[in-house]
Amino acid sequence: MRKDEMFLYLCLIALIFFPSCNSVDTLTPIQSVRDGETLISAGEKFVLGFFSLANSKNRYVGIWYNQIPNQTIVWTANRENPVHNSSGILTIKGGNLVLLDGGHNNNITLWSTNVSSSTMANNSSATLTDSGNLVLKDGQQRTSWESFDYPTNTYLPRMKLGFKKRTGLNWILTSWNSADDPAPGEFSLSLDPRGVPQYFLKMGSERIWRSGPWNDQRLIGAPLMSGYSEFSWSYVTNDDEIY
Ligand SMILES: *[C@@H]1O[C@H](CO)[C@@H](O)[C@H](O)[C@H]1NC(C)=O
Ligand SMILES: *[C@@H]1O[C@H](CO)[C@@H](O)[C@H](O)[C@H]1NC(C)=O
Ligand SMILES: *[C@@H]1O[C@H](CO)[C@@H](O)[C@H](O)[C@H]1NC(C)=O
Ligand SMILES: *[C@@H]1O[C@H](CO)[C@@H](O)[C@H](O)[C@H]1NC(C)=O
Ligand SMILES: *[C@@H]1O[C@H](CO)[C@@H](O)[C@H](O)[C@H]1NC(C)=O
Ligand SMILES: *[C@@H]1O[C@H](CO)[C@@H](O)[C@H](O)[C@H]1NC(C)=O
Repeated sequence: MRKDEMFLYLCLIALIFFPSCNSVDTLTPIQSVRDGETLISAGEKFVLGFFSLANSKNRYVGIWYNQIPNQTIVWTANRENPVHNSSGILTIKGGNLVLLDGGHNNNITLWSTNVSSSTMANNSSATLTDSGNLVLKDGQQRTSWESFDYPTNTYLPRMKLGFKKRTGLNWILTSWNSADDPAPGEFSLSLDPRGVPQYFLKMGSERIWRSGPWNDQRLIGAPLMSGYSEFSWSYVTNDDEIY
């Protein structure tokens, strides 16, 4: 067997026995995603990696669709703290996902999930799912943080918009500052539970649109919600959450 045939043969064996060895959807504490590297969800729907925007050299960690050729960002981690060159490193430390700027003698933390560290933090992991959610699990495999709880400017199927009553977690959409700056901009969409609960689009603190209440099928002020048979909507209100 020639050397190149041997190589192909070994690759084939590797693919049969380790079908996911060419793309990885999970990060563990002994690994990291450096600028230029990616996580790809198991069904290859979404990618997590570093990106920059049109006229900017700043680097951000984000999630985008794997199969849409024009990179379409759906979530950004370090919205307000970009890495200024390619020395960013995303890794897991003490049970938290952290973004480090490795371009210094000491790594500087630019962004962190900030969930309290757990025992067995060395057994934690983060997985990018096929719905575009980055899910951090603690040492006992319980979800300790997920990107769907921290929406940026994009609503994806299975995300919630509203809030969690006990923890005060707010699921709000906020616009980007501009096409090349994903920091929170002027506009937001949030649920106001006072009176008849409804969503408000705001510019700063000024309300510029309201959705009206849920009528069991759609928000009454958003007739287009019933115009897309591909989507089904639901509105949930219970002791813990309204969304
Ligand atoms: C993709 O991006 C290019 C360049 O920005 C643009 O001309 C084109 O219309 C985009 N295509 C789609 C499908 O959005
Ligand atoms: C990134 O910038 C830092 C200074 O902020 C520098 O020390 C480092 O060498 C740079 N890294 C690369 C890969 O250019
Ligand atoms: C910075 O973090 C990376 C990834 O965890 C690690 O490999 C590297 O040793 C760290 N560098 C310093 C100076 O601590
Ligand atoms: C994490 O906590 C630090 C210190 O309290 C804070 O400066 C930082 O903004 C927090 N990061 C996130 C992503 O919430
Ligand atoms: C984590 O640390 C504990 C105790 O130090 C050890 O028993 C366990 O094997 C480690 N797990 C991993 C995945 O390294
Ligand atoms: C560590 O994680 C693995 C899966 O990654 C799990 O099977 C195991 O139960 C975990 N260990 C502990 C002590 O929870």
